[in-house]
Amino acid sequence: MPAVALPVLGAEDVLAGLRALRTRQPVKFAAFYSSQLGGIVTDPALMIIPFDDHMVHRGHGIFDTAGLVNGRIYDLEAHLDRFLGSAERSKLKLAGSREEMRDIIIKTAAVSQLRDGAIRYWLSSGPGSLELSPAAGAQPGFFVMIFGGLSYPERWYTDGLRVMTTTYPIKPPLYAITKATNYLPNVLMQMEAKEAGLDNGVFIDENGFVGESSNMNVAFVTRDGVFRHPQFKSVLPGCTSLRLLDLARGLVGRVITAVEVSDIPVSDARAAREMLLLGSSVKVAPIVEWDRQPIADGKPGPVARALLNLLEEDMRTGDRLIDVPY
Ligand SMILES: Cc1ncc(COP(=O)(O)O)c(C=O)c1O
Repeated sequence: MPAVALPVLGAEDVLAGLRALRTRQPVKFAAFYSSQLGGIVTDPALMIIPFDDHMVHRGHGIFDTAGLVNGRIYDLEAHLDRFLGSAERSKLKLAGSREEMRDIIIKTAAVSQLRDGAIRYWLSSGPGSLELSPAAGAQPGFFVMIFGGLSYPERWYTDGLRVMTTTYPIKPPLYAITKATNYLPNVLMQMEAKEAGLDNGVFIDENGFVGESSNMNVAFVTRDGVFRHPQFKSVLPGCTSLRLLDLARGLVGRVITAVEVSDIPVSDARAAREMLLLGSSVKVAPIVEWDRQPIADGKPGPVARALLNLLEEDMRTGDRLIDVPY
């Protein structure tokens, strides 16, 4: 066997290595703030976190993602509320006040020059050891990434998605409502669906109630026109879902008859008139097939379209927008 060349690298070699990595696999990351670096970088090779950060080697970190729409940040306060709730449940110290974090997010967005995309930010318990508990005196880290966002095929909106019930167990409630960096079940669920030639998976809880999808909530329109969403017990409280549950009241008497948040048995769900995916990245997309069975007539329905219009309108002209000072 030929001997492996294992040089001991200096700082310049490391930088060259990081640059080469990005050349082999280019990314479109526009700006990154790191409290550990004390500023913003725009060169993706420099968007790095130390290996011994507790978020990296033990998954002890949280994150959230807000949308950047037409040069404005959408619904950031709702995302920050959830971020702070996740931090508290994860016993993470904040790296600054809410106001400071908001300010850093807005300023990083401005440096990025990106007008449409996503803002993902993380809180970690910091570096300092490879122990199970955070290192003594570890300084919490705050990181902000401005990037193009996740994109989905156009056919999801025109033809609808095909999903399957995942074989992976749903997260217990505490972990489901906390947006921690432990997304193994979510990743495996999506990979499993893709391997089966489908678009995504759906978690079902141990009581037989519908949960959520990989990085999106699911909701239904019942046969009698009720827009019905699972309770936020075993699923992440989606900012999109919460906003749409509010906005959808304006559709009552038109395409829906009522809005309801309740446990949804799988048998009720399978009899729905429409099945929907909701989330910051996907917005609203119709599901037309679940476990190889059509939802109603197997075509996208009017409520999916009406909710997408409501959400897009809110993202363009609503009262939850922050102007980015480019
Ligand atoms: C597991 C999970 N459920 C639901 C959602 C939808 O949440 P939101 O509408 O805030 O994007 C997300 C995305 O953050 C998620 O990761």
